[in-house]
Amino acid sequence: MKITRWILGITGGIAAYKTPELVRLLVKQGSEVKVVMTHGAKSFVTPMTLQAVSRNPVYSDLLDEDFEAAMGHIELARWAQGILIAPLSANRLAALAHGMADDLLTTLCLATQAPIWAAPAMNQQMWHHPATQSNIRILQERGIQLLGPEYGEQACQEIGLGRMCEPEAIVANLFNAEKTILEGKHVLISAGPTQEVIDPVRYLSNRSSGKMGFALAKAAQRMGAKVTLIAGPVSLPTPAHVKRLDVTSAQQMYDVVMKEAQHCDIFISAAAVCDFRLLETNNHKIKKSDQHQNLTLNLVANPDILATVAKLPKRPFCVGFAAETENFEHYARQKLLEKELDLVALNDVSNNEIGFDANDNALTVFSHHQKHEITKNSKENVAIKLLEIIGEYYHAKNKTKST
Ligand code: C5P
Repeated sequence: MKITRWILGITGGIAAYKTPELVRLLVKQGSEVKVVMTHGAKSFVTPMTLQAVSRNPVYSDLLDEDFEAAMGHIELARWAQGILIAPLSANRLAALAHGMADDLLTTLCLATQAPIWAAPAMNQQMWHHPATQSNIRILQERGIQLLGPEYGEQACQEIGLGRMCEPEAIVANLFNAEKTILEGKHVLISAGPTQEVIDPVRYLSNRSSGKMGFALAKAAQRMGAKVTLIAGPVSLPTPAHVKRLDVTSAQQMYDVVMKEAQHCDIFISAAAVCDFRLLETNNHKIKKSDQHQNLTLNLVANPDILATVAKLPKRPFCVGFAAETENFEHYARQKLLEKELDLVALNDVSNNEIGFDANDNALTVFSHHQKHEITKNSKENVAIKLLEIIGEYYHAKNKTKST
């Protein structure tokens, strides 16, 4: 269903000056827009301007006699088919996360059944604060869809993540300009680390958090794909409408991926699969007292899951990750060729800000003839950009095959 009745919630942040343009773009899409402003928002943009561009009264007070008589917050909540909050300040973000109903906007968000999108905007320190990050996770788990924030120069003259997405990007996202890219495609994604048993209390593993793979699963589902996510041991919530299969070891991941790969169109191998496992696992805990100064573990190589899938006679479009600390391009291109992949996404894991367990990422995507930079951004936004590239190459390859 194309949403045509929108409530635009505006909270108090400098990015509010961009909202008349946002209203104009929504109206251009054939939408009717009703604007709800917090009191803080009025310091940055006038209700009069928004009334003029939306051609509707602007709402602000929860306890407004005229407004209550004409249409209370419940009616507004019922009227809306979609709610967009842009910009969403740290303060209102916290209020939403904790179910507050202390102004018109938060109250109608509690009272509505309409889906909610939010474009946060704040100083980069405030965005990275654990309180904000925890509030963000609460909202995401509750199904609120986040647009941005973007990385760049801020009004406070700092540089970082926290800028509101541009109105064009917000509207393109709302109307799923990219939605059709993966429509009807089955995308298989592996994510997280694997664990290789040493003895009943110990294992070998790595620092992968699974965040990138999970962000890809969520974004692919939003772009219209049927998504199967094979997850190593991670503590992340399953993205909505995604089929998740949990595994522990590389061998288990291999078995499940090989089964699922039979009927998928695209395989994105974001998992950090352990290269080795123990030749023989110990049924009893290895005792320190049984060892002399050194303990030697006899390791054997695990199967290369991605390379095996890429060599299947009826293989899906294959995308690998290269997590490197040096000779970046050389190793990435080597993987592309040796594993016979369609694309490789290179990740500089020596940089703590974008490496393992970070919330942000930056990638260089290599095809056999080109490379594409995805600049530093949240893993969610990087996932969208990577999937757009994958979608383009996937369709180009299939077009060539069918002509
Ligand atoms: O060879 P390397 O481990 O650097 O390659 C990384 C890519 O290969 C990643 O996409 C990873 O998911 C995949 N891989 C795999 N099975 C392995 C090792 C890596 O699928 N045993």
